[in-house]
Amino acid sequence: MLPAKVLQFGTIQIPNAVLLAPMEDVTNLPFRLICKAMGADIVYTEFASSDGLVRNAAKTLQKIRIEERERPVGIQIFGGDPETMRQAARIAEQFEPDFIDINCGCWVKNVVRRNAGAALLRDIPRMVHLVKTVIDSVQLPVTVKTRLGWDRHSIRIVEVAQQLEEIGVAALAIHCRTRDMGHQGTPLWEWIDRIKEKVSMPVILNGGITSWQTAAEAFWNTQCDAIMIGKAAIGNPFIFREVKHYLQTGQHPTPPLLEERIAVCLQHLELTLEFYGTERGIRIFRKYYSGYFKGLPRSAQLRQQLVTAASYEEVRMLLEHYLEQFHQHSTPLELATSSTG
Ligand SMILES: Cc1cc2nc3c(=O)[nH]c(=O)nc-3n(C[C@H](O)[C@H](O)[C@H](O)COP(=O)(O)O)c2cc1C
Repeated sequence: MLPAKVLQFGTIQIPNAVLLAPMEDVTNLPFRLICKAMGADIVYTEFASSDGLVRNAAKTLQKIRIEERERPVGIQIFGGDPETMRQAARIAEQFEPDFIDINCGCWVKNVVRRNAGAALLRDIPRMVHLVKTVIDSVQLPVTVKTRLGWDRHSIRIVEVAQQLEEIGVAALAIHCRTRDMGHQGTPLWEWIDRIKEKVSMPVILNGGITSWQTAAEAFWNTQCDAIMIGKAAIGNPFIFREVKHYLQTGQHPTPPLLEERIAVCLQHLELTLEFYGTERGIRIFRKYYSGYFKGLPRSAQLRQQLVTAASYEEVRMLLEHYLEQFHQHSTPLELATSSTG
């Protein structure tokens, strides 16, 4: 075993830190609590629009509601106008997160059009000014999450990292792709070492971690200070436990049994319905099912049934039926067509 790497900024000091990536419509409070319970060391809210915060929009404010038991937690904000970002950061600070994170990497058109997210990579002085404005307006540590660059021909991340360190950014998370790569292509982890040669602030590696094996590779084959997992955690919060177990013990983790997958899925669903109410919650929850039951016999058919269920009870019955079938046959021959049927 290699010695633990320690992620340190603000009041945070965590060995072998594994972070849950901010994800819009995914890393809401219920999901963060589930990931935390499974071993995620640090969680982030989904990004909150600075315009929405300043307008006091209820949906945006709901995104940054946090709870004591999920700490350390960062609130991520985005926007293209420094003055609005200053006000938004002050609002976010009142929610008392452990740090405020600025999104400088989102590639989505709607965000880029507003000169926010990855658009900031096209104009580095503007990015630096915007981040500095936020740093100067709050007491909390400010971190940045970004990509390598606007496109593969304009990667200036080393220079960006140096400038961000100079103005007092507490830590930098890098999705190791450029904006034009979207979510495609092999992440270019080699840039992490190039950055670490020039800065001493913590650098968090993100992009392409899909298992405890790839997590260990990212951790030990680069000079990153911590790693961050996004898509692979959707409906698979167990990944945090597996990664932490391997990093701490060097032993291969055992995957969760179906019984546990079902129990955690139901607990997650319950929290989601409590947070959003049944109608909205049941809709929001649909994105998690495929992760929870990935790789199991007839999982596509099961998912198809789960996404049409309208209540917690209906979901619970479908899952109980699936479990029964699973134990009766090595491949379940027929799944329930409806909980009431
Ligand atoms: C559904 C979805 C929503 C996302 N929303 C955000 C966001 O709100 N803020 C952000 O910084 N990145 C966001 N991302 C990017 C992730 O944080 C992460 O950088 C990216 O998915 C690469 O990591 P991964 O390969 O582990 O998924 C989002 C990604 C996905 C798939």
